[in-house]
Amino acid sequence: MIDLAVKIDNLQLKNPVMTASGTFGYGLEFDDFLDVSQLGGIVVKATTSKHREGNRYPRLAETNMGMLNSVGLQNKGVDYFVKETYPKLTKYNTNVIVNVSDSTIEGYVEVAEKINELERIPGIELNISCPNVKEGGMAFGTSSQMAASVVKAVRKAYKKTLIVKLSPNVTNITEIAKAVEDAGADSVSLINTLLGMAIDAEKRRPVLSTVTGGLSGPAVKPIALRMVYQVSKAVKIPVIGLGGISSATDAIEFILAGATAIQVGTANFIDPAVTIKIINGIADYLQRHQIENITNLIGALEI
Ligand code: FUM
Repeated sequence: MIDLAVKIDNLQLKNPVMTASGTFGYGLEFDDFLDVSQLGGIVVKATTSKHREGNRYPRLAETNMGMLNSVGLQNKGVDYFVKETYPKLTKYNTNVIVNVSDSTIEGYVEVAEKINELERIPGIELNISCPNVKEGGMAFGTSSQMAASVVKAVRKAYKKTLIVKLSPNVTNITEIAKAVEDAGADSVSLINTLLGMAIDAEKRRPVLSTVTGGLSGPAVKPIALRMVYQVSKAVKIPVIGLGGISSATDAIEFILAGATAIQVGTANFIDPAVTIKIINGIADYLQRHQIENITNLIGALEI
């Protein structure tokens, strides 16, 4: 018997495969393609204290082996989420995690307090790494002090599992990871997108309305893998790895590098049922290598 279960703080995951915020809607949009309850967890779209329209179009651009986005945290705000969206998510038999963002510390705390009251949401992913907003977002995640301040404030208000999503747009990601661990994070997820840009040479204009945007997809995988490896050596809390994962082999690489669980992002846009294939592929790998328990593979890279 193969055991795929892993633990992130108090979260029991039936397998290590989660979906990444902003690439899987609220799960509901994917009900026609897969049984969402088979996943280890889903991280639903970023939620802020107030309704946000997001950035002007165009805000998506395809790149070689990747995608740029500058959505700008479009969402209907936490009160709408609590009243209208949350009741629809209680049907899932998996960990539904809410990605929490805002432009001020007070805003982050307000969202976290409201989500804390929702019985069927066992954790939040604090987004201090969105590169597409003028205030807040990545500004919190690129300074150890700012990152620690927001995590400390949210930690006081939020009693369940607190995952902090880190930005790769820094010189030393292990410093930020250690700062948020010391401030009370239960886990870190990494990486969010890399700041990038696309130009339309014919028009001599940037493709995105915001000029720059966040790069994701297979193009960023080697960077994500390196950062997961470094961070998992630097902190004691569990690491959730993401960045360009589109196959079971990719997922296994992140687990060997030290990730306890993984998130699938951009690949959901290409194959909405890719996560189920990844779960099955991980089980096949364990069987082939005669490993009974996935936890034996975490950080098992031989150097
Ligand atoms: O623009 C966005 O909504 C992206 C968010 C993120 O990368 O966290």
